[in-house]
Amino acid sequence: MPSTEGHYLRRVLVTGGAGYIGSHVVFALQRTQRYKVVSIDNYHNSYPKALSRLEEIARSGLRADATETEKQSTVIDAYECDLTNPADVRAVFEKYGKGGIWGVVHIAAWKAVGESSEIPLTYYHNNVTATIYLLQIMSEFDCTRLVYSSSATVYGTPPLVPIPETTRLKADSPYGQSKVVCEAVIQDLMHSEPKRWRAISLRYFNPAGAHPSGLIGEDPRGRPGNLLPLLAQMAIGRIKESTLQVFGNDYPTPDGTCVRDYLHVLDLAAGHLLALDALAPDSTTFDNCPTPARYKAYNLGRGQGFSVLQILEAMRTTTGFDYKYNIIGRRRGDVPDLTADPTLAEKELGFRAKADLTTMCRDLWNWQTRNPNGYSSD
Ligand SMILES: NC(=O)c1ccc[n+]([C@@H]2O[C@H](COP(=O)([O-])OP(=O)(O)OC[C@H]3O[C@@H](n4cnc5c(N)ncnc54)[C@H](O)[C@@H]3O)[C@@H](O)[C@H]2O)c1
Repeated sequence: MPSTEGHYLRRVLVTGGAGYIGSHVVFALQRTQRYKVVSIDNYHNSYPKALSRLEEIARSGLRADATETEKQSTVIDAYECDLTNPADVRAVFEKYGKGGIWGVVHIAAWKAVGESSEIPLTYYHNNVTATIYLLQIMSEFDCTRLVYSSSATVYGTPPLVPIPETTRLKADSPYGQSKVVCEAVIQDLMHSEPKRWRAISLRYFNPAGAHPSGLIGEDPRGRPGNLLPLLAQMAIGRIKESTLQVFGNDYPTPDGTCVRDYLHVLDLAAGHLLALDALAPDSTTFDNCPTPARYKAYNLGRGQGFSVLQILEAMRTTTGFDYKYNIIGRRRGDVPDLTADPTLAEKELGFRAKADLTTMCRDLWNWQTRNPNGYSSD
């Protein structure tokens, strides 16, 4: 989009911009002062307040002599819109016209593994149908650069750990399968029009932590499905329990509990900037594609796994809370070890997740103590 000084901001649409990962991706985009963010979110699992906090963070990062363009980059064009409603999504694209949106970071989805087995059709509709609508509308408006939020769950129970991207995709839940299907749909589209489209799927491992300001963080509606926010809410007293139910301690891992690869959400967000750069016309990232289609998938992880009990101990140290735990039976769909092989993303995108577990716990706890009830705290 042109500014009054003739500089250009790349207009990027972020779906799910108010959510946990989306808000940190929006932060990373705004910090560069090179992007103009458009957010689509229906706030099913998030709060619009995240976007006003993001504008606050972006404004506080402006120099006193900031240009008009830099000032424009702090304002988010936010639309309350459901991606399963194509007329509403098309109306957003119409506001900017053909070619008006440089690229899309498609983050919005439902993500609860257990729930997805109970209501699979709803999950496929929200995650897959919505993605197909979005791709159709992007095509209509000549918006042909996409970064897609995939997940380590696409690997199901992987035969080899750390997990390389060449692993055959075979998810164990409707949620995971919705990601496998979306990746396939995107890849097929890239094959059908290789000169027109470019896309990158980012397979996230376990994002954790929050922006160090404590202004944005993870605040799911209802009980957190992920371990770290659950422990943080227990420690702050939002969840009035002190005993963690641990699902199984007889897995083939060092202490028998499940192992996951945690990375700081800001490291993860930085990976999206690298992916967007790789979609630019002058990028060489796709030069070594085996086919003419310009499509790649990358693991975003640290390559270091931590067990449930190790996470519990790390949070005990950070919060000082006296957690108890209780071993109960294995949970359907749980996988012993999801640890990434992150070498491809490092080699081709220059991605490296630097922050360690202590930093992730510290930043999570900072967010939780400043916002005991999340975005509804004040
Ligand atoms: N958090 C994780 O551990 C994790 C791990 C791997 C992959 N992922 C993927 O990352 C993405 C973001 O996850 P998150 O943790 O930030 O979740 P989140 O629930 O905090 O964010 C998702 C956002 O998308 C919005 N949304 C969902 N459906 C929508 C729809 N139909 N229309 C408009 N908005 C909609 C929600 O309101 C929310 O703001 C998801 O695609 C998820 O599958 C997350």
